[in-house]
Amino acid sequence: MIGDPIAHSKSPVMHNAALEALGIEGEYFPLHVSPEDLGSAISRFKELGFRGINVTIPHKVDVMKYLDQIDDSAARIGAVNTIVNENGILTGYNTDGIGYVRSLKDETHVDLLGKSILVLGAGGAARGIISALAQEDPKTLIIANRTEDKAIQMAEEWKSVVNISAITIDKVSDILADMDVVINTTSIGMHPNTSHTPIDPELIPAGIIVSDLIYNPLTTEFLKKSHERGCTIHGGLGMFVNQGAYALEFWTGMPAPIETMRTAVLKSLQ
Ligand code: ATR
Repeated sequence: MIGDPIAHSKSPVMHNAALEALGIEGEYFPLHVSPEDLGSAISRFKELGFRGINVTIPHKVDVMKYLDQIDDSAARIGAVNTIVNENGILTGYNTDGIGYVRSLKDETHVDLLGKSILVLGAGGAARGIISALAQEDPKTLIIANRTEDKAIQMAEEWKSVVNISAITIDKVSDILADMDVVINTTSIGMHPNTSHTPIDPELIPAGIIVSDLIYNPLTTEFLKKSHERGCTIHGGLGMFVNQGAYALEFWTGMPAPIETMRTAVLKSLQ
């Protein structure tokens, strides 16, 4: 795994637990790679015959130029977090969005087909998620962002594949009553500003699904308040575990031991 910084990542603990559970002799380890060393690091990995690489901040976009192939959806998202080395051919994938959607479906049992989904935020995290949500054939996707232009631009990029529109986050009260799922992809509510919420939770209709990508804290204020309103809530840990699970599945061809991975991360968070 390469990134800058890298020291606090929970991925090594999660993947090493998974490798052990699968009986695979191997090791997953973090390597600090600065932007100026990215190209040489990738060619060295290729020479050494590494099977896979995870890529994190700030390399998810820049790494693409050093790869031999980019999977279609990673190309559309414009970022890669997982590289597979197949006999010296490096292919880039993005498992963040698909990991998120698998976790949302597994944990809440929601069927997204025909649903109305509100995505709060239009940053890098939102991109992967919108790409994966679009595959589920929802009735509509609405992106709400503080900077409306970023949401408009994102809606423009995906309008050929899904019914999608953009609004400023101040206007969510106009559309919330029609939503089935609300997803926070912004950093609002993340440690240490844990009392903040991306929108007023009082506006959320009772009984819908509310999801937050943040996993520190495991249950954000936004989720706590939504739960009090009778909503089904879904936290960010599942996305982290499932993006790792998809990566592991690409590398090994074996089903990932998801519960082992989740337990390993939870233990390391304590
Ligand atoms: P990431 O890659 O994690 O998504 P990002 O690209 O910096 O990070 O995006 C952060 C998102 O959180 C953006 O949608 C940002 O809104 P802007 O596009 O208007 O900047 C949103 N965000 C962060 N802090 C915010 C705040 N205090 N109020 C409203 N939105 C905020």
